[in-house]
Amino acid sequence: MQDTNKRVYISTYGCQMNVNDTERMFSLLEMANYSPVATPEQADLIIINACSIREKPVHKVYSEVGTFRLLKERNPQLRIGVGGCVGQQEKENLLKWSPLIDFVFGTDSIDLLPSLVEKAYEDNAGKIVEAKFQHRSPYHIETMVRKPGVATFVNITKGCDNFCTFCVVPYTRGREKSRPLSHVMEDVKRLIQRGIKEITLLGQNVNSYESECGADFSDLLERLALETPLERIRFTTSHPKDFNQKLANVMFRNQPKVCEYIHLPFQSGSTRILERMNRGYTREEYIEKIAMIRATIPNVVLSTDIIVGFPGETEEEFLETISMVQTIGFETIFAFKYSPRPFTKAAKFTDQIDEVVKDERLARLFKAYDVVAQEMVKRYDGQILDILVEDYDEKRGNLHGRSSQNKNVYFIGDKSLVGQTVQVKITKAFPATFRGELVTHDFVTAGAVTTGLMAQEMEISGLENSL
Ligand code: SAH
Ligand code: SF4
Ligand code: F3S
Repeated sequence: MQDTNKRVYISTYGCQMNVNDTERMFSLLEMANYSPVATPEQADLIIINACSIREKPVHKVYSEVGTFRLLKERNPQLRIGVGGCVGQQEKENLLKWSPLIDFVFGTDSIDLLPSLVEKAYEDNAGKIVEAKFQHRSPYHIETMVRKPGVATFVNITKGCDNFCTFCVVPYTRGREKSRPLSHVMEDVKRLIQRGIKEITLLGQNVNSYESECGADFSDLLERLALETPLERIRFTTSHPKDFNQKLANVMFRNQPKVCEYIHLPFQSGSTRILERMNRGYTREEYIEKIAMIRATIPNVVLSTDIIVGFPGETEEEFLETISMVQTIGFETIFAFKYSPRPFTKAAKFTDQIDEVVKDERLARLFKAYDVVAQEMVKRYDGQILDILVEDYDEKRGNLHGRSSQNKNVYFIGDKSLVGQTVQVKITKAFPATFRGELVTHDFVTAGAVTTGLMAQEMEISGLENSL
């Protein structure tokens, strides 16, 4: 690239896949002499890495592009690109929609970004669209993170073949492809050399991972647990239809390295709705799967995703979703109103649910969950958890880390503890975050409950809401 020392700002929406893709974009652009900046006002290049999973994030992208009008008027050299799932989905439509956008690129075109940007800066450069899917398999990629820190995400699959009728992902990320097992192993070993202690294996449906050597997801998990010095391994997202006994066994026998936490979206508690969603399991099968998991991994902690107001969902069917939340005992739920998406089957269903009804159902679901969550977190009060410390907040002077169960815990302690696993006594357990106090080593070795605690209760009011 001819120009040196240009400044790039990237705005990221969506899931961890997009977050990883943003890291990749920054890394590639840094090699082309772009330095990252914290605000769009400072930038010569603005990229929006956009998410299309529901309508709301797409609207956010559109309104963000609008806010760059003035910047573009002031600086004609400014270039604006839109990528991610919205870039893949909308392609040239985005250019028709806003003259502020100079280039659009898809989820399989990230490695082309430096050359696209270079083209965008050429004199008389027209508008550019690069959004073809690469159909080659397997999926070759190396994790690119600028500052890996203590914990990071490693993509193991790309795309999805499940075609749940509500979901846009098969159209924005393409067909499912897996990385060869040997590549994942090498990648993880490189990350460990850079200081990584925990990885989360990432894919839309990690359970259907299949290496060209024939290894499945359980095999990959076990190889990583046995052959690397990682302290912790997590994975997301699991699909109930593909989560099997073999995987539960591997998780159990590789504890505590493999964390005792599973995110297992059930989407709806009604078998009829699940069928219309093309999820591949019934309510009863999901419940049986949870029973199998709990029988194998007694202390497992579960979280889930739920959609309310899917087309045709009756009040009774919605109540079946509520009853799942009340009976299974999820410690975290992510619940969404159904949002019709382009290309998907469910968007064409004629029995769409009124927005007011969706709003009301979502509010009722959260209310029901709150009761369950308040009750469930009580058991953590006073417990001592092993926390892998991930970061230190200079402003607040506190450490943050996670427990094996994926609980975010905040406590006072020295910055030097970042990267270490420490014991923390939970002093206040909110549904989403915990406060705690560091337990000294004396405490651990002496095993005494009343001594050795560093009296370092945090004073952060409104912590729950501010995170
Ligand atoms: N691959 C994961 C989910 C990826 S999308 C899985 O199969 O579980 C994350 C979540 O967004 C989904 O679990 C679903 O609950 C929600 N979601 C996806 N499409 C949606 C839509 N059209 N409307 C509302 N929520 C949706
Ligand atoms: Fe979407 Fe279903 Fe694939 Fe998840 S499994 S990404 S919900 S199509
Ligand atoms: Fe969004 Fe694409 Fe992820 S649609 S949720 S960024 S796969």
